[in-house]
Amino acid sequence: MLRFPADISPDGRGFAVSFPDIPEALTCGYTLESACEMAADALATAMSFSGQAAGNNRQLTCLQLGQARRTMQGIAAASASGPCLMTFDLFDNLDDATPATPPSEPLADGAVVLRGIARPDAEALLADVHAITIAAPWRHMITPGGLKMSVAMTNCGHAGWVTDAGGYRYDPIDPLSGQLWPAMPASFRHLATTAAAQAGFAGFEPDACLINRYEPGTRLSLHQDRDERDFNAPIVSVSLGLPAIFLFGGMRRADPPQRVRLAHGDVVVWGGPSRLAFHGVAPLADGDHPLLGRLRINLTFRKAL
Ligand code: SIN
Ligand code: FE2
Repeated sequence: MLRFPADISPDGRGFAVSFPDIPEALTCGYTLESACEMAADALATAMSFSGQAAGNNRQLTCLQLGQARRTMQGIAAASASGPCLMTFDLFDNLDDATPATPPSEPLADGAVVLRGIARPDAEALLADVHAITIAAPWRHMITPGGLKMSVAMTNCGHAGWVTDAGGYRYDPIDPLSGQLWPAMPASFRHLATTAAAQAGFAGFEPDACLINRYEPGTRLSLHQDRDERDFNAPIVSVSLGLPAIFLFGGMRRADPPQRVRLAHGDVVVWGGPSRLAFHGVAPLADGDHPLLGRLRINLTFRKAL
């Protein structure tokens, strides 16, 4: 029996549907077209739920279903080799339906999503990212266990997070260039401090910013940020480009994580009782972002030293 679980993100603004069974359907002899049909039916159910939740009518459901089918045709071939996740805005293509999204959504005690607060600065932030990557290029670091990370990374600030055969650590020197990491741009510092204050952590002064670049299919498995010297300062995490499903768990790896859809400009802050929460990113769904194309870039600010 094939199942197409539909996972509606909690922000009421968009949703994500995962189709782990498209590859299974193909190996069971279904055609790509019929697998997509089945997925579309599951999606229709998910959408009518979303539509109800957002107080919308069936027309919205039908309109979005057409878009979903087209998107699915495009991604199904790519998903034939593994689980596939697609995400898109519930209100794409609708001029007059801009739902009121609460600016701040609590995730847990000490953890909050600040919707869209980095949007106005996005172009300046991305220009700064570009300048940083000229001095400190993107690289795929190696975990202490010898695995190459699928997410490409670089850093700026007084210390950069690195991993290699020697372990995880903060290093003031970029091991690729042998030079100091590029300085943290004022645009970065200002956003991080403002977001932290808005989340209740006044006086946050990050000294490290890890910059992650995700391509479709890349993911970050559940982990804790625990290489910093003290855990009093929060973590501020800025999402740019393609939307992602952020996994926000508890204090134990086995605690089932919340699945939170993060869109361009959303910022998550976690500290205090949530500072050591397990978190990660589900495999990135393909898409086309007006500023970043097929990429998601995440800036993670920390007080490391
Ligand atoms: C991280 O945990 O380092 C990054 C999380 C994200 O990309 O949202
Ligand atoms: Fe992290």
